[in-house]
Amino acid sequence: MKGTTPTGAVTEREAAEWVRGMFGRVARRYDLANHLLSFNLDRYWRARTVARVRHVLRAPGTRALDLCCGTGDLLLALEADRGGAVWGSDFCHPMLTSAAQKISRRGFRSRVFEADALEIPVRDASFDLVTVAFGFRNLANYRKGLNEMLRVLRPRGVAAILEFSQPPNPLFAGLYNFYSRNVLPVVGGALSGSKDAYAYLPESVRKFPSAEELARQMRETGFSTVAFERITGGIVCLHLGEK
Ligand SMILES: C[S@@+](CC[C@H](N)C(=O)[O-])C[C@H]1O[C@@H](n2cnc3c(N)ncnc32)[C@H](O)[C@@H]1O
Repeated sequence: MKGTTPTGAVTEREAAEWVRGMFGRVARRYDLANHLLSFNLDRYWRARTVARVRHVLRAPGTRALDLCCGTGDLLLALEADRGGAVWGSDFCHPMLTSAAQKISRRGFRSRVFEADALEIPVRDASFDLVTVAFGFRNLANYRKGLNEMLRVLRPRGVAAILEFSQPPNPLFAGLYNFYSRNVLPVVGGALSGSKDAYAYLPESVRKFPSAEELARQMRETGFSTVAFERITGGIVCLHLGEK
């Protein structure tokens, strides 16, 4: 369980560079492709995440950070629910530009900054809530990612990782795998203009640790009360852990 391994990338640095470049290429069409390819389910998955962390999000004085915030859809959902600003970070400039535009268009107050989730430029114990939606799978080193999340959380702070997973039902998994291997790269490639990005997606999900394995790694990193819930038949999984 090291981290993502895009084809051709050997070192962690190469993997990270490939990921950053790929998101830079799809940034302009990312939201459209996301909503269409997931049949809008992505909105529901983020809403469910927000609902699960609401007790921390709405507590007075909470500081929340959405890592790998991309174009900001989870960030916006968090601010809308809280009625107050949250922080967002990502290492891909074009994705962050899109997030900043959406924040400003909606008259929201959240702030974003450019940073690698494996080296978050904030002091230890700075946040009560750290979230990451569909970004964790792309990290070049999962253990480092978990360590960073734990480091920046305050004691009793909560981490939430929303990520694609493998459906446990073999029949449903077969259907889903057919869709993600055959339909997704073609439609996603046409929509975004970047076929490799949408060929990488099912490949990265296939290589990503199982929900049980990620939960085990979270415990090993030092998170307590670790739990996960499969959503939409296990296409995605929401992992929660406390510091
Ligand atoms: C699939 S997008 C998800 C964006 C957003 N969270 C959402 O729910 O739509 C993944 C994001 O993770 C970011 N990312 C991947 N690896 C990263 C890293 N090491 N540090 C910061 N951001 C990273 C990418 O730049 C991209 O914007």
